[in-house]
Amino acid sequence: MKFSFFLNARFAGLVAIGSTLLSQVSAAPTLLSRQADSCSADAISCSTSNADSCCVPAYGLMVHVQQWIEGYGPSDAFTMHGLWPDTCSGGIPGDGNSGCDASRNFDDVGEIIQGLDSSLYNQMNTYWPSYTGDNPSFWTHEWNKHGTCVTTLDPECFGDDYQENEDVVGYFQKTLDLRTEYNLYAILSDAGITPGGEYTVAEFESAIENSTGATPRVTCSSGALEEIWLYFYVEGNGEYVPTDAFSGSSCSGSIEYPNK
Ligand SMILES: *[C@@H]1O[C@H](CO)[C@@H](O)[C@H](O)[C@H]1NC(C)=O
Repeated sequence: MKFSFFLNARFAGLVAIGSTLLSQVSAAPTLLSRQADSCSADAISCSTSNADSCCVPAYGLMVHVQQWIEGYGPSDAFTMHGLWPDTCSGGIPGDGNSGCDASRNFDDVGEIIQGLDSSLYNQMNTYWPSYTGDNPSFWTHEWNKHGTCVTTLDPECFGDDYQENEDVVGYFQKTLDLRTEYNLYAILSDAGITPGGEYTVAEFESAIENSTGATPRVTCSSGALEEIWLYFYVEGNGEYVPTDAFSGSSCSGSIEYPNK
């Protein structure tokens, strides 16, 4: 089920890019290279030794960070901070803000996405706002520092089918697809945890663990919920498999879940 969801999301994204790409739609889910058909579905990041870095990310512990920021995004939705490939021991790969490939750093990722996929661009303005108000520079930072470290998105992995900047589009679309699949607002609300109340960090962790099977990392600011970090490994078929957080929550005890 999950797998076909990714295929549909990928397909929808490509349709939006334009009919010229349609002939090249393969069975590759987002964040997998065009070599997906030759990837072993059994390979799993950080476990399979010598796995092809075009099939599973070499920095294979993926951290998906959603935010709860008053005044930003829909009142019933967490918004995105980012999708960060970590080393298998939980470290940050790459070279500071320029990430892992300075040749693929950009000044304005917003412009690129707007030109290639206006539907994705609109989704990003809704679900990936910056609290500074400058969305494109937030996205540009996330791509340069983190997106360039996703080894499966290396243009060489796409072979001759590579379309300029489809790695960038794929990165942002996949991140939003994960936000939709791991809808933290819905997960919490199903467990009776709703904005406007106070709950313990342990309750947040338990509700999410009950739903995903893995413990998240919760962070707070001034006694209120700020971010929830979800950790994943990635299989050779593109499936994201939840795993427990590598770092404990930054707060404990009772915290506010404010209305926004
Ligand atoms: C998680 O599941 C356990 C076992 O069913 C239950 O006791 C607990 O209340 C659940 N946590 C939340 C926050 O719903």
